Amino acid sequence: MLKAFFLIFATGIAACDGGKQEATMGFQTPAVNELQPLIQKWCSECHVPPRPSAHQRGDWRPIVLRMQQHRITKGLAPIAEEDLRKIIHYFQTHAPL
Ligand code: HEC
Repeated sequence: MLKAFFLIFATGIAACDGGKQEATMGFQTPAVNELQPLIQKWCSECHVPPRPSAHQRGDWRPIVLRMQQHRITKGLAPIAEEDLRKIIHYFQTHAPL
């Protein structure tokens, strides 16, 4: 009887932990992992790529568009349109309001 109770208790904890871990991963990991290579590719030639927290949400679009201009002025390949959209979205969604 005591053994059965312990088993239920332990299973309950395990299930709870698993759910929590999955929720965290679903929220953070895909966006960050998917975007890091793009940010390395397009944002690291001239300076260390910034963190999203360096600027407020509303500032990111004009900044990234200005960086696009810097690339063009310097004769570097412009950021591909699809990547540009993803990068702006990434910085906006991870920046403070
Ligand atoms: C071609 C060179 C170049 C590339 C590539 C580049 N930057 Fe910059 N970045 C600059 C220069 C020059 C400045 C300083 C002048 C300015 O703010 O426009 C700067 C400044 C910044 C700043 C500080 C702006 C501020 O107002 O404080 C941020 C943030 C930034 N870059 C983000 C990025 C991001 C994100 C990328 C990739 C999408 C990127 N940079 C790619 C040249 C570049």
